[in-house]
Formats: sequence, structure tokens, C-alpha cells
Amino acid sequence: MAGSDREFRVLEKALHRLEGHLADLPAMLGDGEWDEIDAVISDVADRLADNYPYHQPLYAGQMLKPPHPVARIAYELALQINPNNHALDGGRASSLMEKEAVAELARMFGWSRHLGHLTGGGTMANLEALWVGGQLRPGMTVLASEQAHYTHGRISNVLKLPYESVPTDCHGRMDCGVLQQRLERGDAGLVVATLGTTATGAVDPLPQILDLARRHDCRVHVDSAYGGYFALVDNLDADGTEAFARIRDADSVVVDPHKHGLQPYGCGCVLFADPGVGKFYVHDSAYTYFTSDELHLGEISLECSRPGAAAVALWATQRLLPPVPGGRFAADLRRCREAALALWSFVDAHPGFRAIGRPQLDIVVWAPRADRAGDISRMSREVFDRTAERGLHLALAQLPRDMLAPFWPDVIFDMDRVTCLRSCLMKPVHADNIGAITAILGDCAGN
Ligand SMILES: Cc1ncc(COP(=O)(O)O)c(C=O)c1O
Repeated sequence: MAGSDREFRVLEKALHRLEGHLADLPAMLGDGEWDEIDAVISDVADRLADNYPYHQPLYAGQMLKPPHPVARIAYELALQINPNNHALDGGRASSLMEKEAVAELARMFGWSRHLGHLTGGGTMANLEALWVGGQLRPGMTVLASEQAHYTHGRISNVLKLPYESVPTDCHGRMDCGVLQQRLERGDAGLVVATLGTTATGAVDPLPQILDLARRHDCRVHVDSAYGGYFALVDNLDADGTEAFARIRDADSVVVDPHKHGLQPYGCGCVLFADPGVGKFYVHDSAYTYFTSDELHLGEISLECSRPGAAAVALWATQRLLPPVPGGRFAADLRRCREAALALWSFVDAHPGFRAIGRPQLDIVVWAPRADRAGDISRMSREVFDRTAERGLHLALAQLPRDMLAPFWPDVIFDMDRVTCLRSCLMKPVHADNIGAITAILGDCAGN
């Protein structure tokens, strides 16, 4: 929330400017009502204080990243109108901004033509990709890795598509040997490659997945809800770089601007390589789409009403910080990865901790050193509490024994899933504060 005064001034100026364009509107409220609103909003401000300090550099836990002030201001400004990006009738300016912002995301993956739109988040975006997959390969199985987001199994269930998960290697990446055997059965219609798993930020080997899937006439969907923007950075390991470069060859991709894209929640994005899949969205609406023959976004989206404000915020953010290699946005993401590598080097070398493999993006998972999995789980929760008391907020993740055993050959696995510590280092400011983070961690490492 730093810089609030400047933020308020920019917003106030813009509100007056917008008001100038909307002159002569009748007042919605009387003076007395404003006093009541004032009182309610003061209560709201007090209630909102009951949260973890997500914006602070020492909040290094869950997948949470503060929206950029430009996104907040643009969103708040748009709320004065509250456009609905279902149809041009409800959001003319904001629909155009959505089309421009989404085209820029498609270009980020190397696509000069595409079909796509914003969604409420990664779940809805993935749902659309799997739904289109199911329309093209009816009744065929969806395959995703055991580390894929749980949403894929659930969505497949909603869509009544058979779903199976493919084991991963110890880094959390889809095992392509098993995938090959599975594809040879001939009943799979779509493979989901996760580029940036939720637990550890693992990147599935997309080049190999594409090769295998194409040989079996199978579609490939990339779930890069978390990792997508890492297509812009130049400091991934070689396999990560190769995987992101091949998104251009997939059939569909999801990226969440409300994760790494500096947006308030309510902003996912689905993109299809073939604009022809738009035919599946066709629907009859007797009461909308009258104002223009141009594309109304509701014609290519499963959701009807959607917040135009989300598109306005994304458009403004991308105007300030274009998602291009070498730009300021990419530089900030690069620093997140540097922070993760620095934290991983620290825990890897520390006698009180056990690391797993080198992170592929900016998520680090590690655990306190102990001989038994049960003790490791208990101690992870203790470190989680102790660091929180010192102002350092971490997260926890449960990882399967198969992913941990190769890194921890001397551990006795008296349980199949082990609770570990997890940090999503999503804020560039983490890189400047890695010394403070590791100092607290070091202090809290003992029993
Ligand atoms: C890889 C991946 N896919 C999908 C999702 C679901 O996205 P959302 O929470 O925006 O619905 C997440 C959320 O963490 C994710 O990490």
C-alpha cells in the first residue's frame, strides 16, 4: 500500500476527468446517506485489517501478489461506469480494451492470431480449454500430471470427460515415459501440460509432450495460470526456457493476470491457437448483441456477464508495463526468480534444512532436517509458526514420498505425504530482502 497518497491523488484527478465526460448525471444519493456510507466504510477499513501482511516483503508464503497501483486505479475508475464485457451494449470501450490486452498476451506466447478472452480466473479459463478439447475429441480421456492443479480432475468431472493423472519425476514434472505408454492406448484426446505447478513451480517438458501428443492425434493444452509470464524472462534453466518457447505450438493456453500479472482477483485468460473453435460457443440470444456487428465477447465466452473493469485494469497495466522480453515487467519477474534461487541456495546449504531440487520458477519448497517423515512434517509446522511470530510468513505444502525420496535417501518414510515449507517469491522486493528472510529462517531452524 506504499505510495497511497500519490495513488489517491492520481485517482482523484482521473475521477474528475471522467466526471467531466459524464456531466449532468443526476446525483444518486442525498447528503445524509453519505454520512452513513462514511461510517460503514470506516468499519470496512477496520475489518480489512484482519489479514496477513501480503504486501510486505516478509510475506513469502502463498501465491499472493499485490496488484499494481495502475491496475487498482484503472479498476476503480472503471467502476464508476461498471462496464459489462459480455456485449458491446454493456461495455463498448472496455471490450475493445479487453481485445487489445488479450491480443498482447497472445503475442507474448508468439501468436499473431488467436481466439481468447479474460475469465474470472484460472479455473474458468481451464474449464473452457477442456470443454473445447472435449467438443473436438468427444468422450476421450484428459491426461494431466499428478502435480497438475486439482481443478483439471474436477473440471473433467463437470464436463463428463474421463480423466487420468500421469506420475511425475522427482522434480514434479510429467513423466514422459509413462505418458508415452498411456497415449499408446489410443483413447486420450487432450494432454494438459502444466508450466508452473502450484506446489513447486515445476515446468512439464512441453517439447516432449507435444511430440508424443501429436503422434497420437491428441490436443495439448498448457496450464500456465501461474507460470505463463515466465515466457518473458531470460534466467530460467535451459529446460524451462525450451518449454515456454514451445507454448506457441500448443492448441490452447491459460495464463492468470491475477497471479503474476499484477491484477486484482477476477482476471484469468484463455487463448486458443485456432480462432475456428469459436464455433463451439455459438448461442442464440434474443435479447443482446443489437448495437454492433463487431464481435461481442459474450459470443466467444462461456461466462455471460464479466467485469469490464478487469479488462480496463489489465489494459492500463500493460500500457505502463508491456509484457515483452527485456521490459520492466520482465525485469521484475527476473528478480523473483533470483530471490527464489538465493533462498534455495540458503536452505540447500543450511545444516538444519533439507532442500529438494533447484526451483524451476520462483517457488521454493524445503523442510527441516529430521530422520523420519512424520518428524519432518511436524517440524515444518513448527517452523511455520515460529517464523510467523518473527514476521516472516511462509506457506506449507504436502509432497508425495516419490518426489522427496530421491533427494532424501536417508529419510524413513513413515508417511506417504510429507508436509514441507513453501515460499512463493512473487514480489521483486523479495530479492532485496532475501538477507532478512534467511536470517529469520536460520534463527528458526533448530528444534
Ligand atoms: C497451475 C494452476 N492452474 C489453475 C489454477 C486455478 O486458478 P484460479 O485460482 O485463478 O481459479 C491455479 C491456482 O493456483 C494454478 O496454480
